[in-house]
Amino acid sequence: MQHNTFPSSNISSSRLIYGCMRIAGDNSSQDRVKGKRAIQTALEVGYNHFDHADIYGDGECESLFGELLNESPSLRDGIILTSKAGIRRDPQRYDFSSDYLISSVENSLKRLHTDYLDLFLLHRPDYLFSAEDVAQTFMQLKQSGKVKHFGVSNFSPSQLSLLQSALDEPLLVNQIEINIHNISSFSDGTLDQCQQFGITPIAWCPLGGVVYPAWGNTFSADDEQRIEKELALQAKKYDCQPWQLILAWLLKHPANINPIIGSTTPERIIAAKKALELDYSHVDWYRLLEARNGQAVP
Ligand SMILES: NC(=O)c1ccc[n+]([C@@H]2O[C@H](COP(=O)([O-])OP(=O)(O)OC[C@H]3O[C@@H](n4cnc5c(N)ncnc54)[C@H](OP(=O)(O)O)[C@@H]3O)[C@@H](O)[C@H]2O)c1
Repeated sequence: MQHNTFPSSNISSSRLIYGCMRIAGDNSSQDRVKGKRAIQTALEVGYNHFDHADIYGDGECESLFGELLNESPSLRDGIILTSKAGIRRDPQRYDFSSDYLISSVENSLKRLHTDYLDLFLLHRPDYLFSAEDVAQTFMQLKQSGKVKHFGVSNFSPSQLSLLQSALDEPLLVNQIEINIHNISSFSDGTLDQCQQFGITPIAWCPLGGVVYPAWGNTFSADDEQRIEKELALQAKKYDCQPWQLILAWLLKHPANINPIIGSTTPERIIAAKKALELDYSHVDWYRLLEARNGQAVP
């Protein structure tokens, strides 16, 4: 497994991050066993970075991971734990108030059976947030030792800049949706900002639009057929699976995208690593983009 050090930190993350959103499944004992096996597989094959959020499985995903850490506390030092907060239910809204964020982190720590998060991310931008207030909250979390580093998720470049302007320390990551369907970060400044300021982009749902319909799917049947056809051609050429090519397509971007792998199937968690070995060409990158767009680049 390749690793990369996130700029301005000592975080050395596996290039593929393991996403814990699905590990509790429907919370049946069968799904929980499957989820634990998935985490163990990820650990065995070199993933050292695990992505959580307070809301995944209503907290059950963090609790399941915490069971593993409770059984094997020595695991903690060798892994990077990320969690997120800021989305509230009943009623659905975003909330970056200090009390809410601090209590969310404390609850995540309890569920995960750990004293600290390596990275804490704001899950989705709260349109009503005050950058100064969030900066103070981050400082409190850092001083208490509960969080080592901070980042954001689903932030636009200007929202990230606004928050950064109030902080004394760098935001390390922006976790965003990037897949064959959603490529807005290629052109809306998000990946440019990441490159310019050494912020690591982390791609959620990297396989959306290929192995399952992406959020807000707008692909027509024709789009899907064109993409499938190009993927099949390239899969033959690179002797791999179409979904592994999509990961290679993301990894090729110079912003150093770190995809999050969300499969709970051990074989797929292992096979995702093949994407790191593909010598994916510049020409094929554009061929796939054109298949996606249904037209040649101008
Ligand atoms: N920040 C955010 O707003 C946000 C939003 C969503 C997700 N996330 C993070 O991103 C992580 C990854 O998201 P994701 O789970 O959607 O990622 P993903 O890796 O794109 O998708 C995983 C899903 O695809 C299925 N799958 C994978 N390969 C397949 C194949 N070859 N054929 C058929 N199905 C296949 C998996 O099923 P099996 O499990 O059966 O293999 C699983 O249901 C999450 O765990 C979470 O940590 C963040």
